[in-house]
Amino acid sequence: MPNTFKGRSLCEIDDLSIQQRKYLFGQVARLKDALARGDSQTVDSFRINDPDYGIYEVFIEDSTRTKESFRNAIEFHHAKLVEMKADSSSFNKGESYADTFNTLTGYSNRIFIIRSQVEGVCRWLETECSAFAKRNGLCSPIFINAGDGKHEHPTQELLDEYTFIEDNDHSTASIHLAMIGDLFHGRTVHSKADGLMIFDRVKVDLIAPPELSMPDSYVRLMKANGYEIRTFESIEAYLEQDDIADKWYFTRPQLERMGERILQKADELRQCITFRKEFFDRLKPGTKFYHPLPRHKEHPTIPVWLDDTPLNGWEKQSINGMYTRIVLLALLAGKIGDDYSGPGPASSCLDEQYIFPAPVSSSKPKTVSEGVNPISSGLVIDHILKGEDPAAIRAHMRLICRVMKLDDLKGGEWVSTSSDGLYKGLIFRTGEIAFSPKELKRLAAVSPGCTLNFISDSAVKEKFRVKMPPRIYNFDDLECKNTACISSSASSENAPALFIRTENGDYRCAYCGKIHTFKEIWR
Ligand code: NCD
Repeated sequence: MPNTFKGRSLCEIDDLSIQQRKYLFGQVARLKDALARGDSQTVDSFRINDPDYGIYEVFIEDSTRTKESFRNAIEFHHAKLVEMKADSSSFNKGESYADTFNTLTGYSNRIFIIRSQVEGVCRWLETECSAFAKRNGLCSPIFINAGDGKHEHPTQELLDEYTFIEDNDHSTASIHLAMIGDLFHGRTVHSKADGLMIFDRVKVDLIAPPELSMPDSYVRLMKANGYEIRTFESIEAYLEQDDIADKWYFTRPQLERMGERILQKADELRQCITFRKEFFDRLKPGTKFYHPLPRHKEHPTIPVWLDDTPLNGWEKQSINGMYTRIVLLALLAGKIGDDYSGPGPASSCLDEQYIFPAPVSSSKPKTVSEGVNPISSGLVIDHILKGEDPAAIRAHMRLICRVMKLDDLKGGEWVSTSSDGLYKGLIFRTGEIAFSPKELKRLAAVSPGCTLNFISDSAVKEKFRVKMPPRIYNFDDLECKNTACISSSASSENAPALFIRTENGDYRCAYCGKIHTFKEIWR
C-alpha cells in the first residue's frame, strides 16, 4: 500500500479525508504521550531528520502562532528551515506567485508553507510548480495553506479539531459549537464548514451581528453537510434561550479587512461578541472557550480575567498547534503514515458523461419556424431553464447566445411552454451549423438540461441532451467572481479559472472555493 499522505498538499481541510484526519489526531496523541513519558525512541520516529529537506515559510500576512509553531516544528524535524522575506522580495517588482515559487522549487525545496491574502494560491502553485519540477527533473513540492484571505486555514482547523476531540474524551460522536465573532472574514470558522464533519452529529450556533455574519455559501455548505444551524446577533441574544453550547469558539473582529463604513461601528460590533461578567452564570458546567488568537490587548473578546478559570481552552489549543504541525509535516514528508489503509479524499468523477445523444424522431420539426417557413437547416436549443420565469429565461438566453457566439447568426429566441405547462426557452439559428466537442461542453455548462437539435433537409438529423460537466476549465471567458481569488483577473496571476461541480449542482471555484451557479461562471 502506498503512503496516502506522502507528497500531498493541504490547501483546504478537505484535502485530507475524515479518516486521514482521525489517523493524524491519533498520531498527535501518540507524540504528546511519548513526549510526556520521555520516550525518545518514539519521539524520534516522527522526525524527518534530514538537514537537506527544505521547508520554506513564506508569510505575506502577519502571524505569530502559525508561523512560529511551524518554525518550531521544522526545528523538531531537524530539517532545513528557510524563510522568505516577502516584503523585500521581487513581489515588489511585480513578480507573480508562479515565477517566485518556481524559483524556490528550483532550489530543491520540498514543502512550502504560505500565508497570503490571495485566496487559492496554494492550489494554483501545486499545479504550476509540479509542471516546473517535471520540466527540470525535480520532486514536485508540497504546499501547506497557512491562511489565504477569507478562504481557509486548514492547519488551524486541524489543531482546533484535535483540541475539541481531546476535550471530548477523544470521542467524535457529537459537538455543539457556538462560533462567535467575525464570521464573515474569519477563515478559521470557514474551514469548519467541512472540518466539523469529523463529528457524527454537529450543531452549530452562529453568533455575530449582521455586518460580521457567516457568508451564505458557508451556511449552505454546513446545512448540506447535515449540521443543525441557528443564528443569533449577539451573545446577549444567544443567552436569552436555554440551549447553550458547551464549546464556544471566538474569533477576532478583523478590522484590517473591513471597509470604513464598518470600521465606524467597530465599538458597537465588538459589544455584541465580547464576553461579559454578567453572562458567566448562564454557562453550562464544563463549558470551554477557544480562540485561534490573537486577541486584542485593548479590546479582547475573551477578557483576561477568564484566563485562570476552567473555561480556558484556548491556551491548550494554541499549544496543540505545534504538535499538530509536527505530525502534519511528518505525514506529508512520508516519515509516518505507512500503516494507514483507509480512504484518501473523495475525488469527483471527472470522466463522467455529460452529453447524451438522443433518439431522433422522423417527423419534421413542428414548433420551430423561420418566419412563416419551418427551418430547413440549422439548430434548435430547447428546454432552456425549464420551470423558471420568462424574464429569467430571456436573460439567460442572452448569456447562452454570447457564450455560444450565436449573436452573429440568423435566428431568434423565444419563451414557450412545454407539454407539462412549464415555461422554457428556445433558441434557433439557421444555416449549416456544427458544434465541436469543446462547444458542446460549453453548451452543457451554460445550459445544463437543454436539448440540442441539428436540422438539415427539414428534419432533425442529430439530437443531444446535455448535463452539467463535472469540471469546466480551459475557456478564456470563465471567471471566478471572487476578486480576492488567484484566478480572478484582479490578481493578475494568470491562473485560468477552473470550476468543479458540487453535489448540489453548483460550480465551486477549484482555488478559492467560492460557489457559483452555472449562470455565474462566465465573464
Ligand atoms: C487567525 C488567522 O490568521 O487566520 N490566527 C491564527 O492563525 N491563529 C485568526 C486571526 O487572524 O484573527
